[in-house]
Order: sequence, then C-alpha cells, then structure tokens
Amino acid sequence: MRVVSRAYASSANFGPGFDVFAVALDAFYDEICVYPGASFLKVVGPYSRKIPGDIAKEFVKYMVSRFLDFFDLPPEPLGIYIYKGVPVGMGLGSSASSSVALIKALTVAYGVDTGVRELQYLASLGEEFVSGSRHIDNVSACINGGFVISSLEMGGVVVDPPPWLSIILLVPRKCPVYERGKTRFARSLLKECYSLEEFVYNLRRASFLLMGLAKGNPDFIRYGLSDKLVEPFRRSMIPFSENVINRIKEVEGVLGTYISGAGPTLALVVDRRVDEVIDNVKKVVWKGALDCDVVVSGVGGGVVSWVEE
Ligand code: HSE
Repeated sequence: MRVVSRAYASSANFGPGFDVFAVALDAFYDEICVYPGASFLKVVGPYSRKIPGDIAKEFVKYMVSRFLDFFDLPPEPLGIYIYKGVPVGMGLGSSASSSVALIKALTVAYGVDTGVRELQYLASLGEEFVSGSRHIDNVSACINGGFVISSLEMGGVVVDPPPWLSIILLVPRKCPVYERGKTRFARSLLKECYSLEEFVYNLRRASFLLMGLAKGNPDFIRYGLSDKLVEPFRRSMIPFSENVINRIKEVEGVLGTYISGAGPTLALVVDRRVDEVIDNVKKVVWKGALDCDVVVSGVGGGVVSWVEE
C-alpha cells in the first residue's frame, strides 16, 4: 500500500498582500509517495537535481519527527518518493509544496484526522526549515487551493477569483545563490518600521484587490495590484528593470505585476486574452534580452491525497 499526495506550486505576496495573500498555481506540482513499512528516500522529477541528497534527507527526517511528536505517534519505517515538479528557488513556493505534500501524505498514512490549521502549522515548520522563516502564505494556498487570505488562527480563507483570471509567470533561467537562503535575505531587505502613509496605501490597495477578485472587477484588480511595503526594497533581487516592468504593465490585458514570493519570478495578472497578451509580453521580454521562461498558469486546487493498494 502507498499513499500519494499532490500539492501545487503557489505564488505569495500577491500585490500588496505580503505574507497574507497567495494563489495556488496549476502550472507545477510536487508529488510525494509514502510506503509505510519500507525504508528509503528517493527524489525524482525535473527539479530533483536542485536538491542535494543530504538536504532532502534532513528535511524528511525533521518533518517526520515533528509530525510524530505533534500527534504523539511512535516512529515506523517509511519509504518516501519525492517527485519535485515545482522549480526550486524561483519564488513559486517549492518548499511549501514539498512540506504540504509530505505532511498530507503522513496524515493519511497514519490515519490521523487533521484540519487545515494543523496542516498549516506543520507545513510551516518545513518552510522554516528550508527558508528560515515560518511564513504561512504559500502553505495556505497550497493546502486550500485558489486565492487565499492566510491566517494561522483562521486556517485561511479562499476567495474564488474570476474564471477569466490567469497568471503569466516570467521565470528567470538563472537564479543567484544566496549564502544564507534567498527568503531569509529577501526578508532582511525590508524596513522594520513603515509610515502611516505607506500602511494606508497598502491597506487601501489590498481592500480594492480583494473586492476586485470577489466581484470580478478588473479595474479594482488593476488598482489593487500595487505595493509600497515590500517590492520597492526587493527590486534588486529580480532581473527585470523598472522600465521593463512598466512596459509589461502597458500590454493590453495585463492588469498588474508583482514579484512572486521572494522572487526572482515576476507574476503578471492578466484577463482572458491570454494568447494575445503572451505574444506582446514576449516582445517586451525579448527586447529587454531577458533570459526567462514564459509560463501560463491557471489557479490551482488544494492538496489532494489518495491511497493505492
Ligand atoms: N511572504 C514570504 C516572503 C514568501 O516574501 O518572505 C516567501 O516565499
């Protein structure tokens, strides 16, 4: 018997929603198979080579032991396959997908009943292990699916985005390596104190963004996709200049852009004319000689798990 679970990629810091808003992306997923009673660890899939074997081992050991402690369960031999389909280190919630998929598979394998809050908490330990920060935006999107307002206390609220909304991801082909972890570094760039004006700016934009998503109003979404608290301080981490970003924003059908998670991927929120938008976005990207993949993503569902005999 084996338990399989699948968790999609996710894009955090959607517009002004640092650490709170995130969206699940169906363009990429991780899958984890747990074989109770066996004893092995294998990492496969297109991005498996980005994860050194000893890191995978430490990650799995840590997550399994925290899971067992949490539910007061005895250790048992486990065989684990990780299919790594989410690009690593690109701001697409790679650590969240692996953490969520693993915790979900363990809950099914051990037959424990968990709610979203427990899943979020346990998966956020994986985020902390990998990135040094226990943010819950990615894990919440990954668990719940859809566009999520994340909260440890409330378990995450899903706002159904309008059916015409798509995300185009500009994923750089090369990513600088940060000595102490990219997310940790990205967080260190932020200010400790913000002015009342900056706070009100983000609050206003976040409110319009949520209303735009809930009501399917593209003008509200366009207005809401702006941030003064985080993005200005992280621009140096992405290979897209302000000039290129402004030109992308001028493409018809692009409602706005934001740095996905801690970058370096740039996410474009677009309305239904995806093919047309892509051609025009590609022209801007090529003109700027940017070496990146252009990926279209729909909104992903939540984590799923099943048993195979
Ligand atoms: N909200 C987190 C951050 C997401 O930007 O630090 C990281 O993936």
